[in-house]
Amino acid sequence: MIESKIASYNKSFPATFVSAKESHLVDVDGNRFLDFFTGAGTVNYGHNNSLIKRALITYLEEDGIMHSMDMDTWAKLDLLTALDEIILKPRQLDYKVQLCAPSGANAVEAGLKLARKVKQRNHIIAFTRSFHGMTQGALEVTANKYYKSTFTASSGQVSFFPYENYLDGCDALQLLRQMLCDEVSGIELPAAIILETVQADGGVHVASTRFLQGLRLLCDELDILMIVDDIQVGNGRTGDFFSFERAGIVPDIVTLSKAVGGGMPLALLLFREALDQWKTGEHSGTFRGNNLSFVAASAALRGYWQEELFSNQIKEKGQLIASALSAIEETVRGCGMIFGVELTPERALAVREYCFRHQLILELVGARDHVVKLLPPLTISHEDLDHGLRIFVDALEQSR
Ligand SMILES: Cc1ncc(COP(=O)(O)O)c(C=O)c1O
Repeated sequence: MIESKIASYNKSFPATFVSAKESHLVDVDGNRFLDFFTGAGTVNYGHNNSLIKRALITYLEEDGIMHSMDMDTWAKLDLLTALDEIILKPRQLDYKVQLCAPSGANAVEAGLKLARKVKQRNHIIAFTRSFHGMTQGALEVTANKYYKSTFTASSGQVSFFPYENYLDGCDALQLLRQMLCDEVSGIELPAAIILETVQADGGVHVASTRFLQGLRLLCDELDILMIVDDIQVGNGRTGDFFSFERAGIVPDIVTLSKAVGGGMPLALLLFREALDQWKTGEHSGTFRGNNLSFVAASAALRGYWQEELFSNQIKEKGQLIASALSAIEETVRGCGMIFGVELTPERALAVREYCFRHQLILELVGARDHVVKLLPPLTISHEDLDHGLRIFVDALEQSR
């Protein structure tokens, strides 16, 4: 094989997959795997979601334009309209939308650049266990050393502070406030604080509403921009479209990717109107005009988010997961439809392997790959959800 050894998920899930439908992937031998990984939250609406697939096929059959940089196309305008009318206006969010090159990391890069440009400050605060992507700027605000083992030039302009509950007995919010307000702390005023409201790849750590509201207040008081990276836990994963809705806060800048494209590559940066201080084309990317992604994204928004129903269904399925995991003795964290179960690295590996043998796919996260992350499609049927949870609970028992 000519593929570099850098590839990772083919090692975790050694099969050759040929097709996928809704919550299942099918390999060359016809084995059907239940997917509790969903491309780390990319396939929230299930594989080959019929509604999204139909919209794409129709668009292709009509010779809809595929690539257009950021020229105006029907598909682009339709997505922006859907986003505004279905998501932003009902939530009274006055965000401007920037189309980024289609990876989450590119939206993170754009968000950091914009914050630095607007505030004319270089310093950024990020949190322990954070994961924001693999490009230079995104990596700088990512905490995990594993990804930084290769030589990466650093701007030296990022400080990491403890996320909530990172240090026993330490009030992370109070520590941050003290360090930012105290003249002798040695910490520079940052342009922005970037965070995930639920640290997914960091091990599924859920920030409390107190922490999120406290951060919002601190940012307001000190004129710091709050960037919420909603790439993995936005798009309905926590029950609401945006993960920060549960705390009743409005970030200044929001990154969206993964499921926002309905399974197609798309990354968006949303920011308060007053921050729209870009010069024309100042942050660009060839594939920021991927019209197939726009079509898929619009279909997902129109198909799932016009009513409360989908959000209620996610919350209800989240309760089912929580109750299935309530009986186990291991530490469980999560909210909405993202859950993590903390084990030792050896047990976590054994659980993942057992699940794979029993045709359930799930991912390990956390600093030592010691947390099993459950991330089923948001559209999963009760029956499939129940089936997957049973395999997972059996795997835990077998690994004791
Ligand atoms: C919270 C978060 N931010 C950023 C990224 C980077 O996204 P991408 O891999 O598409 O660059 C990820 C990817 O897993 C993520 O989970």
